[in-house]
Amino acid sequence: MRPIVIAANWKMNTTPADAGDLARTIASRTREPGVTRVICPPYVSLAAVRDALAGEDVGVGAQNVHHELAGAYTGEVSVPMLAGLATWVILGHSERRAYFGETDALIGKKLDRALAGGLRPILCVGEVLAEREAGRETQVVDGQLRGALEGRDPETLAGAGLVVAYEPVWAIGTGKNARGADAEAMAQAIRASLRALGWGSRADETPVLYGGSVTSGNIEEFLAEPGVDGALIGGASLKPDEMAGICARAGITAKARGLAS
Ligand code: PGA
Repeated sequence: MRPIVIAANWKMNTTPADAGDLARTIASRTREPGVTRVICPPYVSLAAVRDALAGEDVGVGAQNVHHELAGAYTGEVSVPMLAGLATWVILGHSERRAYFGETDALIGKKLDRALAGGLRPILCVGEVLAEREAGRETQVVDGQLRGALEGRDPETLAGAGLVVAYEPVWAIGTGKNARGADAEAMAQAIRASLRALGWGSRADETPVLYGGSVTSGNIEEFLAEPGVDGALIGGASLKPDEMAGICARAGITAKARGLAS
Protein backbone atom coordinates (compact mmCIF):
# COMPACT_ATOMS: atom_id res chain seq x y z
CA MET A 1 0.00 0.00 0.00
CA ARG A 2 1.52 3.31 -1.06
CA PRO A 3 1.42 6.21 1.42
CA ILE A 4 -0.22 9.55 0.68
CA VAL A 5 2.52 12.18 0.91
CA ILE A 6 1.97 15.94 1.10
CA ALA A 7 5.36 17.68 0.90
CA ALA A 8 5.91 21.42 1.31
CA ASN A 9 8.80 22.96 -0.61
CA TRP A 10 9.33 26.41 0.85
CA LYS A 11 12.11 27.18 -1.65
CA MET A 12 14.05 30.38 -0.79
CA ASN A 13 11.37 31.70 1.56
CA THR A 14 11.15 32.18 5.35
CA THR A 15 13.90 33.04 7.83
CA PRO A 16 14.93 31.15 10.96
CA ALA A 17 12.97 33.78 12.89
CA ASP A 18 9.62 32.99 11.27
CA ALA A 19 9.98 29.41 9.96
CA GLY A 20 9.30 27.73 13.30
CA ASP A 21 5.99 29.51 13.82
CA LEU A 22 4.87 28.77 10.28
CA ALA A 23 5.77 25.09 10.60
CA ARG A 24 3.95 24.82 13.92
CA THR A 25 0.83 26.47 12.52
CA ILE A 26 0.81 24.24 9.46
CA ALA A 27 1.41 21.10 11.53
CA SER A 28 -1.46 21.88 13.88
CA ARG A 29 -3.89 22.39 11.01
CA THR A 30 -2.99 19.44 8.80
CA ARG A 31 -3.26 16.35 11.02
CA GLU A 32 -5.05 13.73 8.96
CA PRO A 33 -4.90 9.97 9.55
CA GLY A 34 -2.99 8.23 6.80
CA VAL A 35 -1.36 11.39 5.39
CA THR A 36 2.43 11.67 5.56
CA ARG A 37 3.44 15.32 5.90
CA VAL A 38 6.87 16.74 5.08
CA ILE A 39 8.14 20.32 5.33
CA CYS A 40 11.28 21.33 3.42
CA PRO A 41 12.49 24.76 4.58
CA PRO A 42 15.76 26.46 3.56
CA TYR A 43 18.86 24.91 5.17
CA VAL A 44 19.24 27.73 7.68
CA SER A 45 15.71 27.14 8.97
CA LEU A 46 16.00 23.36 9.35
CA ALA A 47 16.88 23.53 13.04
CA ALA A 48 14.07 25.97 13.82
CA VAL A 49 11.54 23.81 11.97
CA ARG A 50 12.80 20.60 13.59
CA ASP A 51 12.46 22.18 17.03
CA ALA A 52 9.03 23.62 16.28
CA LEU A 53 7.81 20.21 15.10
CA ALA A 54 9.01 18.25 18.13
CA GLY A 55 6.25 15.84 19.07
CA GLU A 56 4.44 16.33 15.73
CA ASP A 57 4.41 13.57 13.17
CA VAL A 58 5.80 15.75 10.37
CA GLY A 59 8.96 14.95 8.46
CA VAL A 60 11.60 17.62 7.89
CA GLY A 61 13.42 17.69 4.57
CA ALA A 62 16.24 19.55 2.86
CA GLN A 63 15.68 21.01 -0.60
CA ASN A 64 19.00 19.77 -1.98
CA VAL A 65 22.29 18.24 -0.87
CA HIS A 66 25.82 18.06 -2.24
CA HIS A 67 27.12 14.80 -3.72
CA GLU A 68 30.41 14.80 -1.81
CA LEU A 69 30.78 14.23 1.91
CA ALA A 70 33.11 17.16 2.64
CA GLY A 71 35.71 19.34 0.99
CA ALA A 72 36.36 22.55 -0.89
CA TYR A 73 32.83 23.25 -2.10
CA THR A 74 32.12 26.79 -0.98
CA GLY A 75 28.52 27.38 0.00
CA GLU A 76 27.46 23.74 -0.18
CA VAL A 77 25.91 21.39 2.39
CA SER A 78 26.64 17.66 2.62
CA VAL A 79 24.62 14.69 3.84
CA PRO A 80 26.50 14.30 7.15
CA MET A 81 25.76 17.96 7.95
CA LEU A 82 22.04 17.23 7.75
CA ALA A 83 22.18 14.52 10.41
CA GLY A 84 19.71 15.34 13.14
CA LEU A 85 18.21 18.14 11.04
CA ALA A 86 16.44 16.40 8.17
CA THR A 87 15.20 12.91 7.31
CA TRP A 88 14.00 13.70 3.77
CA VAL A 89 15.65 15.43 0.82
CA ILE A 90 14.32 16.83 -2.46
CA LEU A 91 16.63 15.93 -5.35
CA GLY A 92 16.65 17.14 -8.94
CA HIS A 93 14.08 19.91 -8.54
CA SER A 94 13.59 21.62 -11.89
CA GLU A 95 14.90 24.89 -10.43
CA ARG A 96 18.13 23.09 -9.48
CA ARG A 97 18.32 21.65 -12.98
CA ALA A 98 17.56 24.96 -14.71
CA TYR A 99 19.45 27.50 -12.57
CA PHE A 100 22.28 25.41 -11.12
CA GLY A 101 23.04 23.09 -14.02
CA GLU A 102 22.18 19.85 -12.27
CA THR A 103 22.33 16.88 -14.61
CA ASP A 104 20.75 13.45 -14.23
CA ALA A 105 24.20 11.97 -13.57
CA LEU A 106 24.84 14.44 -10.76
CA ILE A 107 21.40 13.80 -9.30
CA GLY A 108 22.22 10.08 -9.31
CA LYS A 109 25.34 10.77 -7.24
CA LYS A 110 23.32 12.85 -4.80
CA LEU A 111 20.86 10.00 -4.57
CA ASP A 112 23.64 7.60 -3.60
CA ARG A 113 24.83 9.92 -0.86
CA ALA A 114 21.32 10.56 0.42
CA LEU A 115 20.61 6.84 0.68
CA ALA A 116 23.92 6.09 2.38
CA GLY A 117 23.12 8.82 4.89
CA GLY A 118 19.63 7.51 5.62
CA LEU A 119 17.75 10.37 3.95
CA ARG A 120 14.51 9.61 2.14
CA PRO A 121 14.66 11.12 -1.36
CA ILE A 122 11.94 12.87 -3.32
CA LEU A 123 13.26 12.65 -6.87
CA CYS A 124 11.79 15.34 -9.14
CA VAL A 125 11.25 14.83 -12.85
CA GLY A 126 9.31 16.73 -15.47
CA GLU A 127 9.32 18.15 -18.98
CA VAL A 128 9.45 21.75 -20.20
CA LEU A 129 6.64 23.21 -22.32
CA ALA A 130 8.34 22.72 -25.68
CA GLU A 131 8.87 19.05 -24.88
CA ARG A 132 5.21 18.57 -24.01
CA GLU A 133 4.11 20.45 -27.12
CA ALA A 134 6.30 18.12 -29.14
CA GLY A 135 4.65 15.13 -27.45
CA ARG A 136 7.94 14.09 -25.89
CA GLU A 137 7.04 14.33 -22.18
CA THR A 138 7.09 10.60 -21.48
CA GLN A 139 10.41 10.19 -23.26
CA VAL A 140 11.93 13.12 -21.33
CA VAL A 141 10.82 11.82 -17.96
CA ASP A 142 11.97 8.31 -18.83
CA GLY A 143 15.39 9.74 -19.69
CA GLN A 144 15.55 11.60 -16.36
CA LEU A 145 14.66 8.45 -14.44
CA ARG A 146 17.19 6.36 -16.36
CA GLY A 147 19.87 9.00 -15.94
CA ALA A 148 19.48 9.10 -12.18
CA LEU A 149 18.49 5.50 -11.40
CA GLU A 150 20.07 3.18 -13.96
CA GLY A 151 22.66 0.85 -12.46
CA ARG A 152 21.38 1.46 -8.95
CA ASP A 153 19.81 -1.32 -6.94
CA PRO A 154 15.99 -1.06 -7.02
CA GLU A 155 15.72 -2.84 -3.67
CA THR A 156 17.95 -0.25 -2.00
CA LEU A 157 16.10 2.66 -3.59
CA ALA A 158 12.62 1.30 -2.93
CA GLY A 159 13.67 0.12 0.53
CA ALA A 160 14.69 3.69 1.37
CA GLY A 161 11.18 4.80 0.41
CA LEU A 162 12.12 6.69 -2.75
CA VAL A 163 9.31 9.00 -3.83
CA VAL A 164 9.08 10.33 -7.39
CA ALA A 165 7.56 13.78 -7.91
CA TYR A 166 6.28 14.52 -11.40
CA GLU A 167 6.51 18.27 -11.83
CA PRO A 168 5.93 19.56 -15.35
CA VAL A 169 8.20 22.61 -15.50
CA TRP A 170 5.55 24.71 -17.28
CA ALA A 171 3.23 24.23 -14.31
CA ILE A 172 5.66 25.25 -11.55
CA GLY A 173 4.90 28.63 -10.06
CA THR A 174 2.86 29.61 -13.09
CA GLY A 175 -0.66 29.06 -11.81
CA LYS A 176 -1.16 26.71 -14.78
CA ASN A 177 -1.57 23.28 -13.28
CA ALA A 178 -1.57 20.13 -15.37
CA ARG A 179 -4.81 18.16 -15.59
CA GLY A 180 -5.42 15.20 -13.33
CA ALA A 181 -5.43 12.95 -16.38
CA ASP A 182 -1.96 14.21 -17.40
CA ALA A 183 -0.62 13.42 -13.93
CA GLU A 184 -2.20 9.98 -13.97
CA ALA A 185 -0.80 9.18 -17.42
CA MET A 186 2.66 10.25 -16.27
CA ALA A 187 2.40 8.30 -13.01
CA GLN A 188 1.73 5.20 -15.09
CA ALA A 189 4.60 6.04 -17.44
CA ILE A 190 6.94 6.55 -14.46
CA ARG A 191 6.07 3.12 -13.10
CA ALA A 192 6.58 1.63 -16.57
CA SER A 193 10.04 3.24 -16.67
CA LEU A 194 10.84 1.79 -13.25
CA ARG A 195 9.75 -1.67 -14.41
CA ALA A 196 11.99 -1.29 -17.44
CA LEU A 197 14.82 -0.54 -15.02
CA GLY A 198 14.19 -3.86 -13.28
CA TRP A 199 12.05 -2.67 -10.41
CA GLY A 200 9.38 -5.38 -10.85
CA SER A 201 6.64 -5.07 -8.23
CA ARG A 202 8.62 -2.32 -6.47
CA ALA A 203 7.43 0.01 -9.25
CA ASP A 204 3.86 -0.32 -8.02
CA GLU A 205 4.91 0.31 -4.43
CA THR A 206 6.66 3.59 -5.28
CA PRO A 207 4.69 6.74 -4.45
CA VAL A 208 4.34 9.22 -7.32
CA LEU A 209 3.44 12.79 -6.41
CA TYR A 210 2.24 15.60 -8.66
CA GLY A 211 3.70 19.09 -8.33
CA GLY A 212 3.07 22.36 -10.15
CA SER A 213 0.66 25.07 -8.97
CA VAL A 214 -1.14 22.75 -6.58
CA THR A 215 -3.69 24.53 -4.37
CA SER A 216 -6.54 23.54 -2.08
CA GLY A 217 -8.78 24.28 -5.07
CA ASN A 218 -7.24 21.80 -7.49
CA ILE A 219 -5.69 19.09 -5.28
CA GLU A 220 -8.83 17.00 -5.63
CA GLU A 221 -8.27 16.59 -9.35
CA PHE A 222 -4.91 14.93 -8.70
CA LEU A 223 -5.80 12.82 -5.70
CA ALA A 224 -8.83 11.46 -7.55
CA GLU A 225 -6.38 9.67 -9.85
CA PRO A 226 -5.51 6.19 -8.58
CA GLY A 227 -1.85 6.38 -9.59
CA VAL A 228 -1.16 9.73 -7.90
CA ASP A 229 -0.19 9.52 -4.24
CA GLY A 230 0.08 13.11 -3.10
CA ALA A 231 1.69 16.39 -4.01
CA LEU A 232 4.84 18.47 -3.79
CA ILE A 233 3.70 22.00 -3.13
CA GLY A 234 5.60 25.25 -3.55
CA GLY A 235 3.79 28.59 -3.35
CA ALA A 236 0.69 27.29 -1.55
CA SER A 237 2.82 25.51 1.06
CA LEU A 238 3.64 28.85 2.70
CA LYS A 239 -0.06 29.43 3.42
CA PRO A 240 -1.56 27.55 6.38
CA ASP A 241 -5.12 27.83 4.98
CA GLU A 242 -4.00 26.25 1.73
CA MET A 243 -2.10 23.47 3.48
CA ALA A 244 -5.09 22.77 5.71
CA GLY A 245 -7.35 22.43 2.65
CA ILE A 246 -4.85 20.30 0.76
CA CYS A 247 -4.29 17.92 3.66
CA ALA A 248 -8.01 17.68 4.42
CA ARG A 249 -8.54 16.46 0.86
CA ALA A 250 -5.59 14.12 1.18
CA GLY A 251 -7.22 12.70 4.30
CA ILE A 252 -10.31 11.80 2.27
CA THR A 253 -8.11 9.95 -0.23
CA ALA A 254 -6.22 8.19 2.56
CA LYS A 255 -9.49 6.98 3.99
CA ALA A 256 -10.83 5.90 0.61
CA ARG A 257 -7.65 3.93 -0.04
CA GLY A 258 -7.80 2.23 3.34
CA LEU A 259 -4.74 4.02 4.75
CA ALA A 260 -6.39 5.81 7.63
CA SER A 261 -6.67 3.64 10.72
P1 PGA B 1 4.50 25.56 -7.07
O1 PGA B 1 5.92 24.80 -6.93
O2 PGA B 1 3.53 24.79 -6.23
O3 PGA B 1 4.75 26.93 -6.56
O4 PGA B 1 4.14 25.52 -8.52
C1 PGA B 1 5.99 23.41 -6.91
C2 PGA B 1 7.42 22.97 -6.80
O5 PGA B 1 8.28 23.62 -7.38
O6 PGA B 1 7.74 21.99 -6.10
